[in-house]
Amino acid sequence: MDTRLLDARQEGDLAAAADLLRAGRLVAFPTETVYGLGALGLEAEAVERIFQAKGRPHTDPVILHVAEVGWVRDLVSRFPPHAEALMRAFWPGPLTLVLPKSGAVPPVVTAGGPTVAVRMPAHPVALELIRRAGAPIAAPSANLFSRPSPTTAQHVLQDLQGRIDAVLDGGPASVGVESTVLDLSGEAPVVLRPGGVTRETLEQALGGPVGVRGRAEAGEVLPSPGLLTRHYSPRAEVHLFDGPDPAVFAAIRELASLPGGVTVLAYSEDLPHLGGLPSVEDLGSRTDPESVARKLYAAFRQADERGAVRLAVRLAPSGRLGDAINDRLRRAACGRVITLG
Ligand code: TXA
Ligand code: MG
Repeated sequence: MDTRLLDARQEGDLAAAADLLRAGRLVAFPTETVYGLGALGLEAEAVERIFQAKGRPHTDPVILHVAEVGWVRDLVSRFPPHAEALMRAFWPGPLTLVLPKSGAVPPVVTAGGPTVAVRMPAHPVALELIRRAGAPIAAPSANLFSRPSPTTAQHVLQDLQGRIDAVLDGGPASVGVESTVLDLSGEAPVVLRPGGVTRETLEQALGGPVGVRGRAEAGEVLPSPGLLTRHYSPRAEVHLFDGPDPAVFAAIRELASLPGGVTVLAYSEDLPHLGGLPSVEDLGSRTDPESVARKLYAAFRQADERGAVRLAVRLAPSGRLGDAINDRLRRAACGRVITLG
């Protein structure tokens, strides 16, 4: 299959992308978080193509993307408390809500489960495309299964060239990590995946505590398969450090002396301490997690392209997007944080 590279600024290209979707085909498109791989969300056959193209296991459900809040009514059996208020407060935006599903949603979307994840992306191209497609669009991140999510159209092509019908290029994603997944289907709201909307912000909006689901251990039944520990990963082995400057820099220099060396993904503040190391990438300031989030997945991919054997990176300060960044870093490091005294 030839994968067409379409330009979201061209009216003809946008129309072609919507035509492909309406015909049941696969189109990758920009959102504010990462690029999604879209297909008609209420057509089982179209959604099935997503799983084939990504090599994604059918046990992992996908998010339905809507262009209007009103579209959600047909997708759910009821609105749990807070659902409508959260949609009004945070949509369009990087918040995915897990709600009890209606009969209109095919089982392939929800991995056979009783809930459906929905979100309205804050990207004018995504919203226009979904509106023209005229129906909710199922879209996981547009990467091969277990690879880092794509934040540019080029990243999508790296993984899915020849496997999908088109990618609609709308420039780099502005958030850079995936949406927050909030489960509203149970007794109390629980964050299944930290993301663009922080837990603190949700707690303020709800006026009460919001739980966080811990990461799943191997063999455990997954509340959300995105909680698989090894996920969002570069091919290189990731050494994730926590601890005081001198100990961390010494440990990184030790890695650098091994065969194959190390590529350091560094916060700007750390650069002066890493002089002489051959491969150091600047992720941006540790006080600016929004900028770090925008660069993180591109840095993973670049390291892979350069054939990096191992990566070294430090945990980000928690709070704001730091929690989402640290979640992705932990998964890339298979859950292992090297804590130095
Ligand atoms: O920012 C995003 O959310 C991006 C853009 C494209 O919208 N999408 C994305 O989709 O990251 P995906 O499929 O890569 O991740 C969706 C996550 C997965 O961890 C999946 O397991 C979880 O949401 N999920 C989907 N439906 C669910 C459900 N019904 N219950 C629990 N978790 C669900
Ligand atoms: Mg994904």
